Amino acid sequence: MAGVDSSLFRQVLGHFPTGVTIITAHTEGPVGVSVAQFFSVSLEPLLIGFCAIRESSTWPAIRQTGSFCVNVLADDQEALSRRFSQSDIDRFDGVAWTPAASGAPRLAGALAWIDADIVGVHEAGDHDICVGEVRDLAVEREGTPLVWFRGGYGRFAV
Ligand SMILES: Cc1cc2nc3c(=O)[nH]c(=O)nc-3n(C[C@H](O)[C@H](O)[C@H](O)COP(=O)(O)O)c2cc1C
Repeated sequence: MAGVDSSLFRQVLGHFPTGVTIITAHTEGPVGVSVAQFFSVSLEPLLIGFCAIRESSTWPAIRQTGSFCVNVLADDQEALSRRFSQSDIDRFDGVAWTPAASGAPRLAGALAWIDADIVGVHEAGDHDICVGEVRDLAVEREGTPLVWFRGGYGRFAV
């Protein structure tokens, strides 16, 4: 519909809660960025996806490696999410991680991780939709997730 303004769009879409992930890759060193727009795509084959804003400085580096690891954040990792959306810092300084099979960092303390190879990138407005085929994944610990809702962090309760 023509004439819908972007602030209304943000307000309405903000009422859909998501988890928070940090998507990583390994180039000359580790790179990573906070991403809420992560989703499951397909069971056969096993596909996942995320939306990356095209002006991102990290997304082109991730794309170039051809693979990525999704780290699903726990509700005690809000500071880590903030850190991985900051510029002009070494985001990995003091952050513990181990490499997934792709080499992409699995961050300590995350609830779960999914290592994937990029199989498609689809332009969509000011974002790219990146689709990845899962090569390995695991739940690391039981816990409750960090939640993103109405432009702020929250917690999950049953
Ligand atoms: C909670 C949260 C969720 C975010 N979700 C996304 C997202 O889904 N896609 C995206 O491209 N950027 C997202 N961002 C913004 C990026 O984390 C980052 O701030 C921005 O891309 C600039 O950093 P970069 O140049 O390293 O990409 C999110 C930031 C926060 C704090």
